[in-house]
Amino acid sequence: MGKRLTEKVTWVGKTDWELTRFHGDEYSTDRGSSYNAYLVRDEKTALIDTVWRPYDGEFVDRLKQEIDLGAIDYIVLNHSEIDHSGALPALMREIPGTPIFLTAAGARILKAHFHEDWDFRVVKTGDALDLGDGKLLFVEAPMLHWPDSMFSYWTGENILFSNDAFGQHYATEMLYDDLVDQSELFGEALKYYANILTPFSALVTKKIREVLALNLPVKMICPSHGALWRSDPVKIVEKYLLWANAYQENQIALVYDTMWDSTRLMAEAIADGIRDADPSATVKLMNTAKRDKNDVAAEVFRSKAILLGSPTINNGLLHSVAGLLEMFRGLKFKGKAAAAFGSYGWSGEAVSQLTAGLKAAGFRIVDDGRKALWVPDARELDACREYGRNFARSL
Ligand code: FEO
Repeated sequence: MGKRLTEKVTWVGKTDWELTRFHGDEYSTDRGSSYNAYLVRDEKTALIDTVWRPYDGEFVDRLKQEIDLGAIDYIVLNHSEIDHSGALPALMREIPGTPIFLTAAGARILKAHFHEDWDFRVVKTGDALDLGDGKLLFVEAPMLHWPDSMFSYWTGENILFSNDAFGQHYATEMLYDDLVDQSELFGEALKYYANILTPFSALVTKKIREVLALNLPVKMICPSHGALWRSDPVKIVEKYLLWANAYQENQIALVYDTMWDSTRLMAEAIADGIRDADPSATVKLMNTAKRDKNDVAAEVFRSKAILLGSPTINNGLLHSVAGLLEMFRGLKFKGKAAAAFGSYGWSGEAVSQLTAGLKAAGFRIVDDGRKALWVPDARELDACREYGRNFARSL
């Protein structure tokens, strides 16, 4: 059964406690997730979004316990990605003529996903769907995070259905932000922003300003994943404005992989030097082969500077570092300094390749990096410490 949120709005989504990977293997969901869908019952009834495809039958069955499906007048699809549209085919088999309100891009994407000739009703920013006492007001939010993304605002009870924006991959039975562990909640919200929304930060700022300028009272923000923001919805909006503005904390991350420990020894010596020169900075070391890549990306997002390390192998990089560099290129972090380091035995290309990769990913390159031949001895480790001191001082 659904969970009643307000007099007219009921949560009818799916909490997925078992989810550990999302977007294929691209995103780790150690705390599970939820696919939030909502029924808005006024004189007319609208369903906002559905759930991921594996739960389509369960979704439809549970929806039937909540409402006679024939009483659903409209479907609003804020976003076509399969985690929100996946149950549509099963639902539309039951209520095939129900109009689906979505953006023009959403209609194109849904047609290409499901190849069905459903009754699509394309809406734009400012359009509204009258439900009786209140309306659903639509605001297009292209590239937050797909071209079709849209927000729907329920005027009847001042609720913003923001879809992926302000979401977290965070399974909870508690439903609301104020009932869950705050460090888990904001940690997951930051990880979500860092790994999904960072490339679109300029658009995030613009869209939030646009929505704020509408002066709509917001009692609750209901995203499509995780907990619902009811205690003070403004606080997650303020976090987004902060995160979208080249976010950084006083943190330096050393991110590396290592074969026979030489690059690790360098990392630890460089970290010592950084701590000498900047005792106030938080210094974190992460072995990319052993740490979750999305957690690493979140720590890089929080950092003012990073040092990326790999030994040279086959004239190139260890694959875990190369993969991470490709993630960084796509995430387009802003305002972060960087340099490279690594051990080598003969050809030693890794440091120059890392430096070029960091530059291409938009990092400000501090220097040419630090290389060590074979196993660093005490003198080389001293040099690494000095290198760390100089790196920290240069920031
Ligand atoms: Fe939660 Fe972009 O789908």
